[in-house]
Amino acid sequence: MAQVQKGICAEPNLHAQYLMFNVIDDDAQVIRAKLAHILNVFEHYDEEHYEAMVSGVIAIGSSYWSDLYPGLIPMELAPFPDMECDDRHAPATPCDIFIQIRADRADVCFAIGSEVCELLKGHVELFEEVKGFRYLDGRDLIGFVDGTENPKGMHKFDVAVVGDDDPDFVGGSYIHMQRYRTNMDRWQRVPVKQQEDIIGRTKEDNVEYASEDKAAFAHTKRSSLKDENGNSIEILRQSMPYGDMTVKGLMFLSFAKSPKPFTLMLKSMMYGDENGVYDKLLDYTVPETGAAFFAPSLTFIKRNKD
Ligand code: HEM
Repeated sequence: MAQVQKGICAEPNLHAQYLMFNVIDDDAQVIRAKLAHILNVFEHYDEEHYEAMVSGVIAIGSSYWSDLYPGLIPMELAPFPDMECDDRHAPATPCDIFIQIRADRADVCFAIGSEVCELLKGHVELFEEVKGFRYLDGRDLIGFVDGTENPKGMHKFDVAVVGDDDPDFVGGSYIHMQRYRTNMDRWQRVPVKQQEDIIGRTKEDNVEYASEDKAAFAHTKRSSLKDENGNSIEILRQSMPYGDMTVKGLMFLSFAKSPKPFTLMLKSMMYGDENGVYDKLLDYTVPETGAAFFAPSLTFIKRNKD
């Protein structure tokens, strides 16, 4: 049985360090070996600081995958779906290697991140790094609890992890990442009742609106989709707030057994319903980056390290 990378279905943590690399040499063999080594770094810190609940994810960008593992391609691997409609744009900003480090201690995230960078030095350029943090009782910076309707328990694996239908890639996960930047001044000028209408849930108590009370522009209306048989289309969200006193937003991360659910949801948010009613949240928070990855199983990374 292929072992799933620990960070894919992990419970939320207090801190995250996101590292985005582009590869600058063509020695794929070295990179494959270094990625397997990074798994040992995750394991080492997890054992040394078990109370920190360390979890990591190594993910390979859709356009770099076939350079790294030639001849072996996850069945549904696809570039990030760049979308544009009126003044809304969800850009594709490809990235070769994405490392997600999470723990309940910021110093442990920092130590692991430093070791990862040291290991990859000379082979990659780090073009973006973002620190994520848990905010209040699991809220995003717009003040709403984020993640409530996420799949729970073992159901996370059904939603986020590739099964037997792609035998070479069992235990892997398709990841979509978008760094959203929120216009806090604009959002804070919106009365709370209107903010709640935009999300489709109450703010303080996090109670879902009844379906008939949700506006077509509500975020939870636009992102909550069903297939032709009436089954829910699901992703596992592992998003976290990031920012400082000037720039604030959400590192949005979707994990799924196929790239399709995320793409359908983003389409519904960006282009809207049959009347063109789009997700009003997008008037206040804007995706500045967007990249698609595949995170293979631990077994795959270790087996293909030479
Ligand atoms: C800055 C961007 C975003 C913010 C602040 C945000 C915030 C939220 C909040 C507060 C909720 C309600 C609580 C919950 O169930 O988690 C929610 C639900 C949800 N969001 Fe987002 N979200 C963002 C982007 C996205 C994107 C890009 C997608 C997918 C493409 C997405 C998919 C979902 C889904 C599937 C739900 C659950 C809907 C339901 O079944 O009720 N979100 N989001």
